[in-house]
Amino acid sequence: MTDCNIAIIGAGAMGGAVADGLLRAGVHPSHIALANPHPARLARFTEAGVRTYLDNRNAVGGADLVIFAVKPWILPDVVRELRSDMDYDRQEVTAIVAGVSCKELCDMMKKADGKLPALSVSMPNTAVALGESMTFVVAAHGCPSRAVELFGALGKVMEIPEKQLGAATALASCGIAYAMRYVRAAEEGGVELGFRAADARQIVVETLRGAAALLSRDSAHPEAEIDKVTTPGGLTIRGLNAMEEAGFTASVIAGLKASQPR
Ligand SMILES: NC(=O)c1ccc[n+]([C@@H]2O[C@H](COP(=O)([O-])OP(=O)(O)OC[C@H]3O[C@@H](n4cnc5c(N)ncnc54)[C@H](OP(=O)(O)O)[C@@H]3O)[C@@H](O)[C@H]2O)c1
Repeated sequence: MTDCNIAIIGAGAMGGAVADGLLRAGVHPSHIALANPHPARLARFTEAGVRTYLDNRNAVGGADLVIFAVKPWILPDVVRELRSDMDYDRQEVTAIVAGVSCKELCDMMKKADGKLPALSVSMPNTAVALGESMTFVVAAHGCPSRAVELFGALGKVMEIPEKQLGAATALASCGIAYAMRYVRAAEEGGVELGFRAADARQIVVETLRGAAALLSRDSAHPEAEIDKVTTPGGLTIRGLNAMEEAGFTASVIAGLKASQPR
């Protein structure tokens, strides 16, 4: 990744988070170009040594990988503005834009002679800023090798077919909100059990970190880990059964299904 020049178009929540993640991962700021129409979004990146631009066209020139991180309704204008200046033999493009199909993206990017770059849709989550994203890459045309390499440096990356993107987004992008809601629920429970809110949060977060570490070992399985802490007739199984009686698993599955695009 260190030799790759990356242009990010849009310095909002996602574009900014990717830039933060790259800086955190040790990418030299001079290898990152960031464009946004309003300078306020760019100021802290300029200070960090990132090449920042108000004009998108100035950002893409030397880029090996161009990342679109704008709202879906802005994307057609951005593509129209940049398409003719881009060198599709040399430059790869990925769009972090929800709700845009690979076909729509190809139609937008196609030059008059029918040419397309290596093109993909990428879906990181907000933990990309910390290098802990679960990111999905869907190839729209050619091989998205640079996008896969980049997001591999910013967490875990999975290449998936387009038909799985809705489910993947529910699990990993919306999933950040769902995990936060579990934290909030457990924190509120902890307060009711007598802990200060800040202590309860620390306990919950560290417990989740431990659970994630246990699960990240080879061959680990959630039920096997649950078995280790559920003594027959004990307290944990009572707690689990009370949660299930209140609809825990069914609620999580219902939430994931509800967050599928219609
Ligand atoms: N947030 C998430 O968790 C998440 C997760 C996965 C995917 N996404 C996708 O990421 C994309 C961006 O979402 P976001 O949450 O980052 O939105 P956002 O915070 O509004 O960021 C979009 C950025 O694009 C800039 N922009 C507007 N017009 C532009 C133009 N013509 N050229 C270049 N930049 C322009 C905006 O600048 P100004 O605000 O200064 O006008 C803003 O900084 C969306 O398509 C979304 O589907 C988001």
